[in-house]
Amino acid sequence: MEFSVLGLLALTGSVAAFNGQVSTWLEAGGEGPGILHIYLTDYDTGSTYEGRDYTGGLGCLPENSFVETSPGGYNWSASVWQTSDGCFNIDFQGAFGAGHEYCCGGLPCDLSG
Ligand SMILES: *[C@@H]1O[C@H](CO)[C@@H](O)[C@H](O)[C@H]1NC(C)=O
Repeated sequence: MEFSVLGLLALTGSVAAFNGQVSTWLEAGGEGPGILHIYLTDYDTGSTYEGRDYTGGLGCLPENSFVETSPGGYNWSASVWQTSDGCFNIDFQGAFGAGHEYCCGGLPCDLSG
């Protein structure tokens, strides 16, 4: 009995996170800073999402900053930032049941908690 409870907790723990890849594309914007497109692919569901930072950098996203670009229409908010060691960080703020995840070594990369 205790075994199955622990197994269930372990399973729940691994599901309640975002398992996927992040990549970015900087769209040059004439005179302005450009638009940084942030793409996320969910490996578990195959769904894709896009966020845009109109300052051309990371860390200035509005509410409901990510919209689903695959069928489903799931829009959600997150904050993203880059640390001085070049790691990409994202706080899902509860979307996907996930919190802070990050990945290092340049984009695209696979997020982990
Ligand atoms: C998600 O955002 C897109 C783009 O702003 C919008 O067209 C769509 O209606 C939104 N979906 C929901 C469910 O709010």
